[in-house]
Amino acid sequence: MSSPKIWTHKGTFLLAAVGSAVGLGNLWRFPYLTGENGGGAFILIYALTITLVGIPILIAESLLGRASRKSPIMGMQYLTKSHNTSRGWRAIGWMGAFAAFIILSFYSVIAGWAIHYAGLMFSGSMVGADADTISQSFGALLASPGLLLIYHTLFILASGLIVGLGIHKGIESGLRFMMPALFVILMIVLGYGIIAGDAGAAMRFLFTFNLSDLSLEGWLQAMGQSFFTLSLGMGAIMAYGAYMSSEASLTRTAISIAFVDTAIALLAGIAIFSLVFGSGLEASQGPGLMFVTLPIAFSELPAGWLIGGVFFILVIGAALTSAISLVEPVAAYLVERFGMSRPVAVGIMIVLCWLLGLLTVFSFNIWSEDSFSHQLFGRSPFDVLEFITNIMMPLGGLLIALFAGWALSRKEVMREMSTNENWFHIWQFLVRFVAPTAVAFVFLRTIPQIDG
Ligand code: PHE
Ligand code: NA
Repeated sequence: MSSPKIWTHKGTFLLAAVGSAVGLGNLWRFPYLTGENGGGAFILIYALTITLVGIPILIAESLLGRASRKSPIMGMQYLTKSHNTSRGWRAIGWMGAFAAFIILSFYSVIAGWAIHYAGLMFSGSMVGADADTISQSFGALLASPGLLLIYHTLFILASGLIVGLGIHKGIESGLRFMMPALFVILMIVLGYGIIAGDAGAAMRFLFTFNLSDLSLEGWLQAMGQSFFTLSLGMGAIMAYGAYMSSEASLTRTAISIAFVDTAIALLAGIAIFSLVFGSGLEASQGPGLMFVTLPIAFSELPAGWLIGGVFFILVIGAALTSAISLVEPVAAYLVERFGMSRPVAVGIMIVLCWLLGLLTVFSFNIWSEDSFSHQLFGRSPFDVLEFITNIMMPLGGLLIALFAGWALSRKEVMREMSTNENWFHIWQFLVRFVAPTAVAFVFLRTIPQIDG
């Protein structure tokens, strides 16, 4: 047997996992969900779920990867065999791969919008444009299957290229260059936001914790977001964990990932809401916050085209480092299971995701609201895909928590975690009881939505 593949440095897993975690979830989804759900109260629940549910599952998922040193599907086969537990747990690997497909298929389309906006900003065509023109231009983008398809293709090709080059030459080198660059860009945008916008209003909005602002729906969205933002439950973390150095601490690494991910979401929130409030605009604009509200703010500000363009580069880069973590688990499986070369395995994965992405592309135009013939339960295909992932991520997370908490032997877990007894007991209590309860709570509310 060849020796298992490992990241070059002890800290690379942290870098790779942060690359996976920080993405559209932080820059696009977190701000608009916060905006829709009244600000601080949403963030309070979100931080609580990250701590009590997200971090323990993050530890569990990376533990499964490192304990097996295999791709998620093969890794779960190995772990169930070596622990003599039910084959049913293998569903964790398969569900993860399935969810990774679906997420990448629409993630790529949305990241494509950012490519369009980077172009629009740098071209200067939005300078001084009025609000109506800017919101119409978003409509025009969505109405054009051709444009969406070009960007979707470009984005998915770029992620395939990086993963195709291998975990060292592709993923590691890519991340080592991209992550610091993204951080610098975020700092520039943040500094600009504070100077040119209304940082005081942004801070008040984000950090005024008034729990009565929060609906039950908001609670659930905060929980769903904490799974999405930490890349949990779809094998991404498990696949990267398989290459993790045996010396790195699982607990410390998971806490660092969650901390950085949350910090970046908050910094992005401060930057975006400073600009939005500074221009007298509304926070509660939903998914259009980044693609309509923010461009309107940039259009009026000095050098807004430049900072806006740079901001959308940040969005593309952050999305790319997340997308590669969705390609890796499936590609690694194909290599391991069928002995394919990595480029062929990656090629298969991205062609299939590209095809599935067509559902999302057409959801915004030829199959949109007005063409009911293509709708399931009154939803567009994109809504259905998003709905499926909203179920699969918490479900995957739940199974991971239960498997690590109940099915694995205490000895093995202790050895992988190599932490002191007290931490172990806290972790075990959280994955055995707290995380499952929280997830069950999400389900009881999500499932009835099928007919609503
Ligand atoms: N965590 C990523 C984000 O916040 C999304 C993602 C989910 C990436 C699952 C990989 C796996 O944008
Ligand atoms: Na994230």
